[in-house]
Amino acid sequence: MRPLRTLINEKPAIGWLLFFVTIIVVFLIGILASSVIERRTEAVYAYSPKVELDEWEANNAEWGKFFPREYQSYMKTSDTSFRSKYNGAATIDMLEVDPRLVVLWAGYGFAKDYNQGRGHAYAVEDLRNSLRSGAPVGDKKSPMPNTCWSCKSPDVPRLMKENGIANFYKGSWDELGPEVHSPIGCADCHDEVTMNLQISRPALIEAFERMGKDINKASHQEMRSLVCAQCHVEYYFNKKTPVEGVPYLTFPWDKGMSAEDMEAYYDEINFKDWTHKLSKAPMLKAQHPGYEVFLTGVHASRGVSCADCHMPYKSEGGQKFTDHHIQSPLNNVANSCQVCHREETGRLIADVYERQDRIIENRDKLEELLVRAHVEAKTAWDKGATEEQMQQALVHIRHAQWRWDYAAASHGGSFHSPVETSRVIGTGIVKAQEARLELSRILASLGFNEEVPYPDIETKAKAQAFIGLPMDKMNQEKQVFKETVAPEWVKSYLEKYQGESLKE
Ligand code: HEC
Ligand code: HEC
Ligand code: HEC
Ligand code: HEC
Repeated sequence: MRPLRTLINEKPAIGWLLFFVTIIVVFLIGILASSVIERRTEAVYAYSPKVELDEWEANNAEWGKFFPREYQSYMKTSDTSFRSKYNGAATIDMLEVDPRLVVLWAGYGFAKDYNQGRGHAYAVEDLRNSLRSGAPVGDKKSPMPNTCWSCKSPDVPRLMKENGIANFYKGSWDELGPEVHSPIGCADCHDEVTMNLQISRPALIEAFERMGKDINKASHQEMRSLVCAQCHVEYYFNKKTPVEGVPYLTFPWDKGMSAEDMEAYYDEINFKDWTHKLSKAPMLKAQHPGYEVFLTGVHASRGVSCADCHMPYKSEGGQKFTDHHIQSPLNNVANSCQVCHREETGRLIADVYERQDRIIENRDKLEELLVRAHVEAKTAWDKGATEEQMQQALVHIRHAQWRWDYAAASHGGSFHSPVETSRVIGTGIVKAQEARLELSRILASLGFNEEVPYPDIETKAKAQAFIGLPMDKMNQEKQVFKETVAPEWVKSYLEKYQGESLKE
């Protein structure tokens, strides 16, 4: 073969041919590159913005017409098959798993029924079916207020807009039964015109205001957690302000978000959720300070948001979108963790389980101490202890159990912030021991110097019998409610709102 240069010198046409072929190849590569870049851009701006939705449209399916990928992935929150070591999407009867809880909550609704949370698609159904919401049939009212609907449905912001915020909270839970139907959905987190993230719940906005912060100034990354902080937080029903007599949903963050700060807030206003049936201690029920505990962890301090792990990006047909199947990230480690961590799936899951195992070891110990403190206090009352004698011990019980609950109810806390969660449980153990020390002194002064026996609470049924709950009666009444009243609520809602949706 002769060198190319000699060939071109002999036949210049070959030179020209090579020249043009090169130009065409370069041109084609250019087109390809530009098309790749265009696709990438399309993938980032995956949704077409020409949306026509009513303000506070509560029907998720209506939104689904414009955003099918987000809607379809959201619908997967109804899949209950995944279970991790302690969590997951299946219904777990926590009182069956851990009957000590029944004694800790004696005299309060949670002793009747407490299941671990599952997917957002079940929020309304699970509240209707819980024994805690009672069996409002005929003239009988629910023991809970309408405020309990607050974190369950996009019908809530719709009703608040229609009737006013305080009017929404007013009245017993059954009153708005026929008006709340759609489970947690699009309008809870999105503005229906711009699709921007938005805060639909006044309690969060008001809590920020009282802390002297403007939630509208939150960064985009903060919003990716704040939309969750509308519900996954500690709260209480304030019956004094801003409207006397209305159980107004309030986040107790004025002094700060730690267990001690919130405890001080509640102590200052003399608030109690209930009086314990055995010990008569003025108790606090921690709801689920998930956001507050998360903020103290390393992921939060590195700027990682709830959505980064629970709503990771996903690609389908070349389009990138946010996976709305909010669930345990352990069911999706590739998208949830491995975008930032290089470790294998098994290693990352083991990291989570190790933290949970270690924390649960001490949490269980604290539960046992609390059960003992409650029965010891009851024994002291039975032996004739006075209010004055008991006062300090009861305050210790209140504080110990609040700390236990703050740690136990901050779902995911053992992973979100293991150090803070262990610290809070540690201080709870100290308080519980102080209570028991005090109680043993009181018992001794009443001439009782033995160990108060630990009750036989092997199973949920035994524990409920021990605190004297008429379970058969409550279950029967609930069954009647589920068969008669609940279907009527659904029927009347669908007739009133769906099909035609909310169009005027
Ligand atoms: C309007 C209130 C509300 C908002 C907003 C909300 N949640 Fe929830 N979330 C709930 C309720 C209520 C449940 C329990 C539902 C049930 O068990 O029926 C729940 C359950 C969950 C679960 C358990 C799911 C499972 O499969 O076990 C996770 C995880 C979760 N939420 C994460 C988030 C994240 C992350 C955000 C923000 C992107 C968020 N939630 C926003 C109210 C809310
Ligand atoms: C618990 C809060 C929450 C709920 C409920 C929710 N979203 Fe989202 N959505 C988010 C977050 C967080 C993002 C990411 C936004 C960002 O980073 O800009 C998002 C992003 C989006 C986007 C932008 C494109 C994308 O995929 O990233 C669309 C469109 C969207 N959601 C539609 C919906 C629809 C439709 C529903 C109801 C079926 C819904 N969302 C329910 C929190 C929520
Ligand atoms: C958006 C990025 C990001 C995502 C997503 C993420 N992480 Fe991390 N993770 C970090 C950063 C940053 C740190 C802090 C490490 C440092 O700064 O050296 C960290 C720290 C950790 C640590 C050590 C901290 C501790 O608690 O002791 C563990 C374990 C961990 N991540 C596990 C996970 C798991 C499991 C997931 C998925 C469920 C996950 N991470 C998702 C960024 C991320
Ligand atoms: C770094 C990743 C990461 C971030 C960020 C994160 N989570 Fe989690 N979350 C997890 C892991 C891992 C678990 C444990 C899941 C398990 O045990 O199956 C968990 C558990 C949960 C659970 C209990 C889930 C269940 O199945 O019952 C809830 C609720 C939850 N997180 C909400 C939130 C909220 C709200 C935020 C933001 C304030 C948040 N998470 C931020 C990784 C994360």
